[in-house]
Amino acid sequence: MMTTGAGLKQQAIRKLVSQAGHPRGAVGRLVGWLFAYRRSNRQRNRWAVSLLGVQPTDRVLEVGFGPGVAVAELASRATRGQVYGIDHSQVMARQASRRNAAAIRAGRVHLTRASVDQLPSFGEPLDAILAVNTVAFWPDPVQRLQELRRLLRPAGRIALVSQPRSPGATRDTTTRAAQELQDLLTRAGFVHIRVETLDLDPPVACVLATCPAIEAR
Ligand SMILES: C[S@@+](CC[C@H](N)C(=O)[O-])C[C@H]1O[C@@H](n2cnc3c(N)ncnc32)[C@H](O)[C@@H]1O
Repeated sequence: MMTTGAGLKQQAIRKLVSQAGHPRGAVGRLVGWLFAYRRSNRQRNRWAVSLLGVQPTDRVLEVGFGPGVAVAELASRATRGQVYGIDHSQVMARQASRRNAAAIRAGRVHLTRASVDQLPSFGEPLDAILAVNTVAFWPDPVQRLQELRRLLRPAGRIALVSQPRSPGATRDTTTRAAQELQDLLTRAGFVHIRVETLDLDPPVACVLATCPAIEAR
């Protein structure tokens, strides 16, 4: 059977999308490059970091850092703090490490290849956690969020961001994704949940919440 130009394009898009949850090999490197240089991706990551209210001495973790765009932004704000990141993709860990090489050498950024269901130790409690377009790939996300909550100091902050990238995604898709993230955070024991929206195409939702100030952790 002959494959048309449109068919080949569809196949290529499907291959790229299927890599989003775990970029691997040569296609994974291309996907990482797209994550890093696509204008809306950069805007989304910068905006998400701006909402997290990072202070100069903060200890911050990003889960699923991809090519490390938000890590660089976090490090530019936590100038006297520490930025940690985990991602289970070796390709992403390499790209993010290259992008943040100076801050890693300075001992301010620490990137680890690890899955969110096998969290390494980060020492002292964290002030804030960020996860951009990654929660949908996590196994048992409520349990993962409970584990992340225990890493935060009392009243520590979390931001979960979603810009749906499925073909045909609309404002409604983003609204549904935001609702799902709010439900996950509620079930995981977070409080003061609120949603901010960035008007891209499709819009980006950032769901912010805090760890209870006093609780049985
Ligand atoms: C769609 S990309 C988003 C990357 C980046 N946050 C951004 O917005 O450009 C999803 C990222 O989450 C990572 N990821 C997916 N599941 C993961 C897991 N279980 N543990 C750690 N990282 C994961 C993938 O490897 C990938 O780098």
